[in-house]
Amino acid sequence: MAGRDWVEWHADYDVAGSSLARRLRVVRGFLGRALDELGESGQLVVSICAGDGRDVLPLLAERWGRAEERQADEWRPAEGGRPAEGGRPAGDGARRAGDGARRAGDGARRAGDGARRAGDGARRAGDGARRQGDSAQQAGDGERRAGGGGPRAVLIEFDPELAGRARRAAHELGLGGVEVRVGDAGDRATYDGVGRADLFLACGVFGNVSDHDMRRTVAALPVLLRDGAVVVWTRGRGDGGRDCGQEVRAEFRRAGFEELAFAAPDDARFRVGMCRWVGEARDGEELPARLFTFR
Ligand SMILES: C[S@@+](CC[C@H](N)C(=O)[O-])C[C@H]1O[C@@H](n2cnc3c(N)ncnc32)[C@H](O)[C@@H]1O
Repeated sequence: MAGRDWVEWHADYDVAGSSLARRLRVVRGFLGRALDELGESGQLVVSICAGDGRDVLPLLAERWGRAEERQADEWRPAEGGRPAEGGRPAGDGARRAGDGARRAGDGARRAGDGARRAGDGARRAGDGARRQGDSAQQAGDGERRAGGGGPRAVLIEFDPELAGRARRAAHELGLGGVEVRVGDAGDRATYDGVGRADLFLACGVFGNVSDHDMRRTVAALPVLLRDGAVVVWTRGRGDGGRDCGQEVRAEFRRAGFEELAFAAPDDARFRVGMCRWVGEARDGEELPARLFTFR
């Protein structure tokens, strides 16, 4: 986990036309579609290895934000948006979500920039970062409490700076009910009290763990899901003749998920999948102690 600079990795999101920027549009399209289906009652959205949350937070703001606090509107760009890229048509909802997400993504980016400017210790290793992590956790708890019985989201992110950015973006977007949990999403203990998700994001995870860990995680996911829950996942294509995205896709099928959409643009290395848990309820079952370890 210490190996890679994930803050730096996120910078590619801001490069127009980059693979990451393109992937983001597809992910938001799928998420928008799933959120539109879910409606507002009793939702729980969980994102693991959530980064700065720019994929899902703007979409939640559009759907959950209190009108007087919603700042996503400030981020409306020029008229006209592009539909979700690749895969099966995601429909009007996804298109709307894509447009809004792009608007709000600017805000998330601004929130991130603000966080970078304001956070003097976030990138420093050691005590400063740890302290920030602690206070971030407390702030998240407060937000969770403030969320009351309404829709909730839990973002789990190991890097305190990215977690801080996500938290600031949630705040800027007027989102109550968002907890950003600083922790290891591969560790069962991190999920204590999270609850079963209606929408679960595993984006940027499976390419960073072993095949064995990917399979173990996919097989265990239903324990974290409500009946009919939707999972959105990403994977890089990989090198050579092997398309690793197809392996993840097959693994979800094997585990009892029904595929809702799969995007694999010919000229891109990313793959994005969306599937629904349609298997038997896994009540009373525990997660394995460890789901995955980042390479
Ligand atoms: C490839 S990035 C994906 C970020 C985000 N999901 C996205 O798609 O934009 C992987 C993220 O996982 C985080 N991460 C790495 N190991 C982790 C772990 N064990 N638990 C939680 N997050 C972790 C990194 O800090 C990084 O933000």
